[in-house]
Amino acid sequence: MEQAKGYIASDNKRKVTTHRLLEMKQRGEKISMLTAYDYSMAAVIDQAGMDVILVGDSASNVMVGNTTTLPMTVDQMIYHGKSVMNAVKRAMVVIDMPFGSYQGNPVEAVSNAVKIMKETQADCLKLEGGKEILESVQRILSAGIPIMGHLGLMPQSINKYGTYAVRAQEEEEARKLLDDAHLLQEAGCCSIVLEKIPATLAKKVAEELTIPVIGIGAGSFVDGQVLVMHDMLGLNKSFSPRFLRRYANLYDEIESAVQRYISDVKSSDFPSEKESY
Ligand code: KIV
Repeated sequence: MEQAKGYIASDNKRKVTTHRLLEMKQRGEKISMLTAYDYSMAAVIDQAGMDVILVGDSASNVMVGNTTTLPMTVDQMIYHGKSVMNAVKRAMVVIDMPFGSYQGNPVEAVSNAVKIMKETQADCLKLEGGKEILESVQRILSAGIPIMGHLGLMPQSINKYGTYAVRAQEEEEARKLLDDAHLLQEAGCCSIVLEKIPATLAKKVAEELTIPVIGIGAGSFVDGQVLVMHDMLGLNKSFSPRFLRRYANLYDEIESAVQRYISDVKSSDFPSEKESY
């Protein structure tokens, strides 16, 4: 199979684990991560060689059509998680803990985390926040469940920010982000996602931490990149942030295919004799 330029084909069949992510950081191999929410897309993405598949609570936006990620429930994340897990053989699968399932009560956080892990058999969970959720993070980790942290723009806190603008541009917020990143690493998190922050700050975090730092809108000086699948495949025309690179224009391709099908049905061109029994 012909691979894209720069693609590292070594170890391509080995299951990606938290340990392998750490090895990748140590040898300077960038980590690729993309969201998926269903069986069919997860199968393609895994076969393509993705290192990490994130069952993001962005399912709320791209699968359900909500304006925020807040409405997602534990059971909905489990539904998407199971669908993805049914397809994936190699990638490490990370599931977002949804809003309200870990922020308030650390004991409830562990039971929600255990429920998601038991019912999906995923590899890891992702939680948004630093110091404020540290007790939940520690309890979940002590149950043997790996955690990927998430700092910077945290979509579950959008009502607090009131804007999707770049975070941590001021010194105080940047300092807190750096402190939170260290706290999460010391607690035992296996990696951290940094969303929509200045590239210089992301670089500092990636250099100071020994665990992998994966960016979205956080520049190139981090250990890997994550995007939302619908955005990078061009399924979503209305979302065009500066950090997004579109690798396909599926909205137009699908629209055109569907229009051709409608036209073939209306004109009785489909099905032909060959397509009939
Ligand atoms: O839910 C999600 O898709 C995410 C990514 C934006 C990192 O958390």
